[in-house]
Amino acid sequence: MADSDRLENSPIIANPQKQTKLLAALYLAQEEYGWLNPEAIEHVADRLGLSPGQVRSTASFYSMFNLEPQGEYRIQVCEGLSCYLAGGAETIIDYLAHLLNIQPGETTADGKFSLEVVQCIAACGSAPAMRVNDELYENLTLERIALIIRELEGGSP
Ligand code: FES
Repeated sequence: MADSDRLENSPIIANPQKQTKLLAALYLAQEEYGWLNPEAIEHVADRLGLSPGQVRSTASFYSMFNLEPQGEYRIQVCEGLSCYLAGGAETIIDYLAHLLNIQPGETTADGKFSLEVVQCIAACGSAPAMRVNDELYENLTLERIALIIRELEGGSP
């Protein structure tokens, strides 16, 4: 297939309106289903007239979407360049892994916390940063992280 054919046949060119609705639909589906399980992906694909593969492919590109079940609090630690240079990423990941007794990619046994390492979360100016569900935490220190986790354990995010 020539490059111009690939471009012409790409979903964004073929169905620009559907593609622009896709992110919002994925967000709503995640709210409804808790994560983007196959049923949620199928639902979005059906409603927008896209294939499940197209929907899953888009969802997998954005760290805000969950393609696996997550804990009540999904902790995403940024290991992007600014956070790395701020001395945060590795130290924070190790600290949280120790504190929660899980490794990145895992969920605590009580289902409360999931730990994940992601790329830039758009808080480079106040690195190091992490996101917990929809909440952004910036200028992190280990002391602050301990407080955040303690608050979340108490159920008051
Ligand atoms: S590199 Fe961490 S927020 Fe951008």
